[in-house]
Amino acid sequence: MSATVGGPEQAIGIFDSGFGGLTVARAIMDQLPYEDIIYVGDSARAPYGEKTVAEVREFALECLDALVEQGVKMLVVACNSASAAVMADARERYPVPVVEVIRPAARRAAGATRSGQVGVICTEATATSGAYGDALAVVGGVRLTTQACPRFVEFVENGITGGAELLEVARGYLAPVQAAGVDTLILGCTHYPLLTGILSYVLGDEVTLVSSAEECAKQTWATLTELDLLHTSPRETHHRFLTTGSVDQFQILGQRLVGDWITDVAQLT
Ligand code: DGL
Repeated sequence: MSATVGGPEQAIGIFDSGFGGLTVARAIMDQLPYEDIIYVGDSARAPYGEKTVAEVREFALECLDALVEQGVKMLVVACNSASAAVMADARERYPVPVVEVIRPAARRAAGATRSGQVGVICTEATATSGAYGDALAVVGGVRLTTQACPRFVEFVENGITGGAELLEVARGYLAPVQAAGVDTLILGCTHYPLLTGILSYVLGDEVTLVSSAEECAKQTWATLTELDLLHTSPRETHHRFLTTGSVDQFQILGQRLVGDWITDVAQLT
């Protein structure tokens, strides 16, 4: 890596397979309002959730390399499928700290559960990787039910977060999770925080929902604080978004998903 190793003035680099990681970017902006962000979305090759772990790993490392070349002070792997594929080696590969979504969410779920029955809903790639199971095994005393929910990404990207069809699909996906008696459910995919309403409606108040986006943002805050890299007083910020796909589509979909602060979008070359 020929990158300048990050100083406090540099941006946080956030990577996702496409648009969904904007939920993580938003959580980071809420918790760390004085930080600049450079976001890379590999929209041209998304969705990652249907790819093999080896493919996801190759694409993810390419994008993370590109982010480091931009000069960032830390890397955030916002995509659960990519976190599952690169969490073992990204920390060794890069000269800046790396935070991913899986371990922070697993720790929070282990802390929140009373019954020891935890569920995770995610893409096929994340389910196949077994990464949440591995992360929870380190904590111990937790039984995990994993449920892939491939259609959720498609609904969210079409702007659908409610309605009869989605409700029926959600009930089908969540039935095994309910049958297992989970009291804590990890939203193990970038898009799922946008489905909190419907998930909570189906599962009821007795099930605690753990957002991997929120937990990742907390870990980002903690890591920057420990390394003395956090901006702690008000300053003007600037956020840049780079996509491997269509710039217009990124901006339109990004604004639809998380809001009109998605403005400075460019092609990742
Ligand atoms: N970002 C992906 C994840 O969190 C979901 C979208 C995709 O499949 O690319 O797993």
